[in-house]
Amino acid sequence: MQPLDVTPRVWERVLSVNAGTACACCGSWSAGEQATLALYGSLARRDLGPLTVAQIGQSLDGRIATVAGDARDVSGQGGLAHLHRLRALVDGVVIGVGTALHDDPRLTVRLCPGHNPARVVIDPNGRLPDDAPMLRDDGTRRIVIQAVERRRPAGVEVIRLSLGERFFPARTVLQALRKAGLEKILIEGGGITISRFLEARLLNRLHVAVAPLLIGAGPSALTTQRPELKLADCVRPETRVFSLGTDVLFDCALSEDAVKADVPVHGRASAGLQRVHSIGNAARLAGAANLTPET
Ligand SMILES: NC(=O)c1ccc[n+]([C@@H]2O[C@H](COP(=O)([O-])OP(=O)(O)OC[C@H]3O[C@@H](n4cnc5c(N)ncnc54)[C@H](OP(=O)(O)O)[C@@H]3O)[C@@H](O)[C@H]2O)c1
Repeated sequence: MQPLDVTPRVWERVLSVNAGTACACCGSWSAGEQATLALYGSLARRDLGPLTVAQIGQSLDGRIATVAGDARDVSGQGGLAHLHRLRALVDGVVIGVGTALHDDPRLTVRLCPGHNPARVVIDPNGRLPDDAPMLRDDGTRRIVIQAVERRRPAGVEVIRLSLGERFFPARTVLQALRKAGLEKILIEGGGITISRFLEARLLNRLHVAVAPLLIGAGPSALTTQRPELKLADCVRPETRVFSLGTDVLFDCALSEDAVKADVPVHGRASAGLQRVHSIGNAARLAGAANLTPET
């Protein structure tokens, strides 16, 4: 397990990787800073195309809230800080209306430097009140995905999708968000919302942050509608494990690109100029692209 040390200077580097102006491989870093670059660098790079990552904070017994819906302190301080870092690296953060109604989240970046992502709620039946904190006008894009015809306050974008069965197909939701200009997307919960993207195989990465807490009952983290019957058929992703201090993070690569993303790319190629699959190629590609090492 790799303990993170998210110092201001390494976080600044991660933000530069996200902006496409630096790489995550060069420089002199402590072991904890290197772990930070390994974890967030693979999310920050921009050369592998659009990214969809989901994150769930759960107890040791796989719950994300109590039976009464209390979910505020499932994750410890380390888990919360991690969530805010993820928000800072994406273009948009998506939640289901269940979470919006239970938790009244603001979905802003407060525990680390970084920009607020666009806020998206999937609310097919128009249940979210217009004065919900996530819809407040603070200059950030706000998007509601709904099936019903319902006016929203000025400035809130509405994406209308038709509801065939109970759920919108996750692929349709994702296509609509990409069309709205959101390349990097964080699916932040709850379990129902993440599970739709997981079973449609649309997640590049899944972050499961486990907190040392036993809840006993309450909503499960992830439940698919057609579960496998044999363990041999279950998904066993390539997984890296990081210590967030209070919580333990399982960083699961669910797509081929996610596995590739774990090998750092050198130079401003992370802005999308070219793909590099081994550090050994870095110098040659840096020369070809006239890039200088950022040591
Ligand atoms: N620990 C954590 O990390 C964490 C994170 C987030 C939330 N939570 C907790 O989890 C609980 C809520 O989670 P949840 O799983 O019950 O609900 P949820 O995923 O937040 O919301 C589910 C609802 O969102 C709508 N929805 C989501 N995806 C949809 C799709 N593809 N098509 C159509 N509608 C879609 C549906 O609304 P309708 O019901 O209107 O059809 C669905 O019932 C709360 O207690 C919250 O506090 C914990």
